[in-house]
Amino acid sequence: MSSAVPVAAGSDPPSQSSTSPSTSAEQHALPQVENEEREIEVGYHITRIYLSPRAHRKWEKVSIYFANRRSYLVDHTSRYATLRDDYWGPSDDQQFETMDAGHFLYLLLECNRANPLFRAPVENPQRILDIGTGPGTWAIDVADKFPAALVHAVDLFPPPNEWVPPNCFLEVEDVLQDWTWGHQFDLVHMRLMLGAFTNSEWDDVYGKCFNHIKPGGWIEQIELDVRVMSDDDSLAKDSLLAEWGNTFLGCAERAGRSLATQTTMKARIEAAGFVDVQEQLYKCPIGKWPKNKVLKEAGRINFQHWDSGLEGWAMWLLTKYGAPEPWSADEVRIYLAHVRQEMQNPKLHVWHYTIGSPSRTSTTAEIHHPSPERLGNGSMSQSTLPTKVLADVTVPDTSLISSALSFARENSSDATYNHIVRSFLLGFVISDKIPTLADRDREAHAVAAILHDLGFPVGHPPHSQIISDEKRFEVDGANAARSFLHREGKSEEWDKHRTQLVWDAIALHTIGSVVFEKEPECQATSYGIWADFQGPDRVPNGLLTHEEYKKICDEFPRLGLMKTLKENMCHLCVTKPGTTYDNTVGEWGDRYVDGYSRKGKLTQDLLETCDLDEKYP
Ligand SMILES: C[S@@+](CC[C@H](N)C(=O)[O-])C[C@H]1O[C@@H](n2cnc3c(N)ncnc32)[C@H](O)[C@@H]1O
Repeated sequence: MSSAVPVAAGSDPPSQSSTSPSTSAEQHALPQVENEEREIEVGYHITRIYLSPRAHRKWEKVSIYFANRRSYLVDHTSRYATLRDDYWGPSDDQQFETMDAGHFLYLLLECNRANPLFRAPVENPQRILDIGTGPGTWAIDVADKFPAALVHAVDLFPPPNEWVPPNCFLEVEDVLQDWTWGHQFDLVHMRLMLGAFTNSEWDDVYGKCFNHIKPGGWIEQIELDVRVMSDDDSLAKDSLLAEWGNTFLGCAERAGRSLATQTTMKARIEAAGFVDVQEQLYKCPIGKWPKNKVLKEAGRINFQHWDSGLEGWAMWLLTKYGAPEPWSADEVRIYLAHVRQEMQNPKLHVWHYTIGSPSRTSTTAEIHHPSPERLGNGSMSQSTLPTKVLADVTVPDTSLISSALSFARENSSDATYNHIVRSFLLGFVISDKIPTLADRDREAHAVAAILHDLGFPVGHPPHSQIISDEKRFEVDGANAARSFLHREGKSEEWDKHRTQLVWDAIALHTIGSVVFEKEPECQATSYGIWADFQGPDRVPNGLLTHEEYKKICDEFPRLGLMKTLKENMCHLCVTKPGTTYDNTVGEWGDRYVDGYSRKGKLTQDLLETCDLDEKYP
């Protein structure tokens, strides 16, 4: 950063800064709004300025610089910072109130922890940085809790607080500029920075964080998922709230700054060189509908958060990037009035996800060669499995998973192989958003997903060892996966239980009424497979977006998956019909295979031809 400006209680502003208006050149650099409501306000929001020793060294530059920061754009009655003209959020009292409500929400969700402010296990921190601090509430609380630490907090506008603890420095700066802090931090914190940066800007910010965090220090980021969900269908599919997330995800995509930061931060943080990236999933109720006392209070506060935030969150994005064309401010207001009305419905049980992700700095070598203490009980600790990013999805990346991919490639047609990889990726996209699947064995899930269609007959070399004459295709696949694990997996890692999980996940993946009642690894595997066949609209609770699905299909095209499926199913009905009578494969034969018949071969036929009731009354 070229000239970060600390602002806190203590001293009066230099007179030059308090009276200098912004220049006309700066006014022209403000957001492009051809709207008669547009007006420029030269604000005097901060009443006191504290200059740190570092700022004193740059006295002249700082004072002029700070004066320039005192202009705001007032657009559609919200006020925006002028340091950047491409950030979607206003910086006015309404938005500060919203951010404070968000702060209380996250404190409440962590109220059972000794330190509800962050999860990173930082002991005796000396320096902490909060990026995009908003009104600075988090930074102020942290400074109070750790009086021996110096807490720097930065945002694009001067914060509204007239008093901050002496160890807290609220600075006005754009973190995309060069950082000039001369010291390193024990912890860098970011919360709700969704939509602030383009992909390359995120990489830039994480890279800067990595370089400014002490070895072994921590970065912690908390991001929410803008999609609203319900577990009990109280959220009507055609409601504005149900579509809220997609509406804004779309606007943000068009703006070039995705709001789905929670889905990409882990991979980007890892790509920057951090290790031990953990993810904490919070289900945040909106409204006081939960029975649990803490969640009820969290829901009440979150309702306020939404109620006061709606206009600030929506106005800039919809009036600039709304579809099919930018909306007028009045259209946005009418829309928001309807959304508010929906939110008032007492029967609504809605919530959204938030993901927190504390991560540690380390050396690059450690990332590729996990140290022995990161390996637990013979198998690699699930949270520290090496990962890679495929089609924007972070998936585990072990040598066994690579071998499974090669094995599947050798034994599958192109279309089946792409389906396998998509199922693997989709399973991780979806399951990483389901709290009950968070602790699953990720390597077992990956192996099961990758090997799940080894029993598809089309695409195998002639006389393949994998395809039996008499077993159903799911069982051929499960048996081949088990042999693969015996052959390739380390015996101390692949005990009977893990191997059985993979076998079950594959053998049962076509029977939804069973597999989704099974272990998390089995469920996760099937989520991915089923989502690939049926697409995002049939995945419950909006857990898969069209954008996520498209990205994966772009990299691993479907190549006519339905045709491939039909070919395989019909082939099985012809070549080993005995394996198809009691299951869904036979349905394909019934419809498409000439001469195929299940007449007299159904399980019911088998049972009704027994006369044991009479023989053994
Ligand atoms: C949604 S607010 C979150 C505020 C606060 N972290 C919280 O949790 O309440 C995101 C903040 O990031 C700030 N921001 C966006 N781009 C920034 C940049 N390039 N440099 C510094 N701050 C930025 C915005 O001004 C805004 O105040």
